[in-house]
Formats: sequence, structure tokens, C-alpha cells
Amino acid sequence: MQEKTFEVPVPLRQAADTTGVQYHRLRKAAGDGRLAAQKMGNQYVVLLSDVQRFLQQGDRRRRPPDNLQGETAPPTFPASTPEKIVPQAKPALKPDPLKLARIITITAPKGGTGKTTTTLNLGAALAELGYRVLLVDCDPQGNLTLSAGIEASQLKSSLDSAIKHYMATYTPQIEPTIIKAPVGLDIVPSNIRLAGTADEMLINSQGVWVLQKLLRSVRPNYDFILIDTLPSLGVLVKNALVAAQELIIPHESEPLSTEAVAMMMKQVDIIRRSELNSDLKIAGILLTKVTKSKVHREVIDFTRDEFGKHVRVFNTVIERSVQFAEAQGLHKTILSYKPKDKGAQAYRNLAQELLYGSAAVKFSEADEELAMSEEHS
Ligand SMILES: Nc1ncnc2c1ncn2[C@@H]1O[C@H](COP(=O)(O)OP(=O)(O)O)[C@@H](O)[C@H]1O
Ligand SMILES: [Mg+2]
Repeated sequence: MQEKTFEVPVPLRQAADTTGVQYHRLRKAAGDGRLAAQKMGNQYVVLLSDVQRFLQQGDRRRRPPDNLQGETAPPTFPASTPEKIVPQAKPALKPDPLKLARIITITAPKGGTGKTTTTLNLGAALAELGYRVLLVDCDPQGNLTLSAGIEASQLKSSLDSAIKHYMATYTPQIEPTIIKAPVGLDIVPSNIRLAGTADEMLINSQGVWVLQKLLRSVRPNYDFILIDTLPSLGVLVKNALVAAQELIIPHESEPLSTEAVAMMMKQVDIIRRSELNSDLKIAGILLTKVTKSKVHREVIDFTRDEFGKHVRVFNTVIERSVQFAEAQGLHKTILSYKPKDKGAQAYRNLAQELLYGSAAVKFSEADEELAMSEEHS
């Protein structure tokens, strides 16, 4: 007997981007029942197969029968909030050739805020849900490469060689550098040679676009590309900001890290206004290494009250735990090292927030109003 596969629902806007259908058409169909969709928080989520069915059926006004059962019944969506996540078995997602990866850069101009830890473990959490994930180590320290279980000094090819090749030939070729890491994720690794190459990028006329050009060809092969960065605002980070659609800013819940978050937000503003990447979005600020101390409480409140006015602050927080360093030492993700503990669960929650509650796919009031007016026209 063939095993049933579980399809993961996606936000309506993502479904529109993926299928190339106007968002408002899907929104309207979801509203009047022609498209089987489910409301989660302030947005609809749908199965891509339902969108395809809706499109094939010629957009006829039709409500799904109430008694959808057995073979044709759509799977129920995980009724999970960011706080309560239902762990899911690995679903087999069907690769969709039309779909391009969401490229997310994990960045903050301060060391030790949890960038590398977040890139690795968020990647693992998304992969656990069946998404195809590529990690990109854009830090010459190669911490992500090492954490993923790869000996950085032994690398024959890496991000560095792909960048060099691009600058010499203007031919993007990143596929040969991708390695299936021992942690089970695909990675473009890096080592210290990337630091020297960064100096060459500074004087190349195309220097800020290199990573964007390199990733273009592999975007259809993945659902998510997560870029880990070094703690600076130099040319490598600029590349990662130009290549990405979204950012996650890990914020070690301490006063100095608050400064770093503010700097990062200013930098994002510059990147947008300079039109290097005018659509760059902040998916969210992620509070990391959180303890119950008074200073952390104050920083968290400040972050939610002040930064939260302008950008999303993830509900999920990553608590401080020695298990992260232990997992790193063993070249494991927290999900494989302590799958049932809080740290693993927190990164699963973050993945869910990113999938179903990201500011990048949130309805704006204008969207809702337009959809309502369309519905009643
Ligand atoms: N939630 C956490 N609790 C405790 N230690 C953590 C946590 N997240 C990361 N670490 C540890 O802090 C150090 C710095 O984290 P890392 O992710 O490398 O930061 P960055 O990449 O921003 O410099 C590492 O030793 C890592 O194991
Ligand atoms: Mg790092």
C-alpha cells in the first residue's frame, strides 16, 4: 500500500508567488470558499495542491462539500501556535520547479549573538518539516561549516572559490561547492580564505552583487536558503543583504546587543534607500540566550516595546542553554542532539513562525480591505 504523504500548508501570499496567480484572486476565492484554505491568526494558509485544483477547475464558484472524508479530504493543518508546536513526522514535499527559495540572511554586527547557531538549527527545523534547505557560510571564520561537521581547512572548493571564479569570469557557478554536511543539510562551506577574497570584492565593480548572482541558479532547487554572516557591516555582509529577501536579526538579550540591532536596522534602511535591495524585509528580531535575569527581562521588554513598533519580534525566544555548545562540539544540531528539549523545540517554533506568521507574508489592513471590497463587488 502506498504511504500517504503530508503536504505542508503555505501562506496564501507565498502560494500566489509560487503559482504566479494574483494574490487577491486567491484571497477572494479563499474568502468565498472556492479555494479550500484555513485561517491561521490573521492570514490564510493553503495547500499548493488545493491551489492547483482550484486553478484547474477554472475558478468556478463552488464550496467544497462539508463531508470531505477519506481519500479526498484535505489534511488538517497543524493547529500550532508559536508557543505550542505539534512535532511533525518528515513530510515528503513535492519539489515544485516554479518555486524559488526564500533567501534569509541571519545577521547582526556583533559576535556571539547566536547567528551561526540560529542558521544551523533553523535550517534543521525547516528540513525536519520536509523543506529543502541550503545553508551558506558567509563568514571567513567558518563556524557554520565546522558546526555542520566539515573540516574547513580541507576544503577543495568553497564560497571563496565560487566568488573568485565569478569575479574572474562573470560566470556564476556555486553548485560544485555544495556539500551534504554530516549534520544532513546542504551547505556552501567557507574558510579563512574568504577574508582575502572579500578584499578583492571591495575593488570589483560588481562586488556587492556576487552572492546574489551565485545563488540565482540554485534558488529553484531549495525552499529555503539561509545565509550566516560575520559580525560586521563590510562587503561580505553587504553581499548577504543584497542577496536576501528577508533578514533575521539574532539579539543576545543584553544592552550591547541592543546597539547592534539598532545599527543593523539603520543598515537595512540604507540598503533599501540605496536601492541595492529596495524590497529587503526584516522577517524578525530573534531574542537569544535568554535567562530569567532582570537585565534580560528589561532588554526583552524594551525590544518588544520599541523595536516591536517597527518590525516583528518573534514570539519564540531562545533560552540560554549549555546544550547548544555541547551540540556544536559534537557537530550536531540541537534537534538531533536533544530532540525533545526546550532548545530544539524553540527552533521548531521559530520555523513555524517563519512559515505561518512572518511579517514578510503578513496581511496588511489595505490587503484585507481590498479583498473585502472585491468580495462585495
Ligand atoms: N541559546 C544559547 N544558549 C547558550 N549558548 C548559546 C546559545 N546560542 C548560542 N550559544 C553559544 O554561544 C556561542 C556563540 O554563538 P554563535 O551562534 O556562534 O554566535 P555568532 O554566530 O552570532 O557569533 C557559541 O559557543 C554557541 O554555542
Ligand atoms: Mg557566527
